[in-house]
Amino acid sequence: MDQAWGLKHFPMTLAGIGEPAPAPGHQASSLLPKAALPSRPCRAIAVAGGKGGVGKSTVAVNLGMTLSMAGHDVMVLDADMGLANVDVLLGLAPSRHIGHMLDGQCALEDLLLGAPHGLRVVPAGSGARRLAQLGSGEHAAVIRAFDDLAPPPHYLLIDTAAGLSDSVAMFAAAADDVMLVVCDEPASLTDAYALIKVLSRDFAVRRFRMVANMVHNQGEAQQLHQKLSRVCDRFLEVVIEFTGWVPQDERLRQAIRRQRAVVDLWPSSRSALAFKQLAGAVDKWTEPERSGLDRIAFFGGRATPAAGC
Ligand SMILES: Nc1ncnc2c1ncn2[C@@H]1O[C@H](COP(=O)(O)OP(=O)(O)OP(=O)(O)O)[C@@H](O)[C@H]1O
Ligand SMILES: [Mg+2]
Repeated sequence: MDQAWGLKHFPMTLAGIGEPAPAPGHQASSLLPKAALPSRPCRAIAVAGGKGGVGKSTVAVNLGMTLSMAGHDVMVLDADMGLANVDVLLGLAPSRHIGHMLDGQCALEDLLLGAPHGLRVVPAGSGARRLAQLGSGEHAAVIRAFDDLAPPPHYLLIDTAAGLSDSVAMFAAAADDVMLVVCDEPASLTDAYALIKVLSRDFAVRRFRMVANMVHNQGEAQQLHQKLSRVCDRFLEVVIEFTGWVPQDERLRQAIRRQRAVVDLWPSSRSALAFKQLAGAVDKWTEPERSGLDRIAFFGGRATPAAGC
């Protein structure tokens, strides 16, 4: 048993908070990139968490749509290969997925699905074993395809799978930022710690941006951040930055049941306002240290985890 053991003793507190709000209509979506903001390099953000069900896909979709509502050109890549659900969250019906692109049957552009407010989604297949078994070269090809897009999106949000698979590690390592979604449950903290450990040890990822999900208030979110960063400070050479928090919100659950993003359906709900704050924080991040091309070089050079680190 390693240091993560200590995290298992943190208390668990979860509670629901309801919030009524008006329901606006959908905006027509376009698959053309937005031209509202000056072009800049694509910032790839891997949304990860280790544990299943902590809200990775929810954060990726709602943060992505909020950034898109603010005028950015945003894509969400469903990287939960073989168990995709970004399309389900948004009520989309993909006819092709990443596997078709990797097999040369179509280009990345052909996969793009339009969602409300100009958000574009790249679907992963569901139930396709081929996708669950992608090799490192194929992961690199997926990332490279985004760097080859002209023009690239401002933001690429990568919704990763649960667990510590090579797929999760590679998408996280290839991204400019790793956003860790954590909730106040011992298993969420231990799994996040395990993911941080693997990414820092084997892929030299040193900075993680933490988002507390399903918490009551900012104080609880910051406590969660302290719990995680205290253990990481002790045993790993990483920085865990507090990026924001999303409350436990019944409206968000209802929106999911309706296959809509809460930021689209109830933009005044507590969770939608939290996503607005989160998007504001993300948009203030300084430029990524690595360019897209560097990222590919990095990826190519580390097709398998660094041995002996
Ligand atoms: N802030 C929130 N308030 C209320 N419910 C939430 C919130 N965030 C997530 N949920 C609930 O948690 C469920 C799981 O969320 P989500 O699918 O985003 O998790 P995930 O981490 O992507 O899971 P997986 O690892 O299986 O892909 C949602 O269907 C929703 O019911
Ligand atoms: Mg998910």
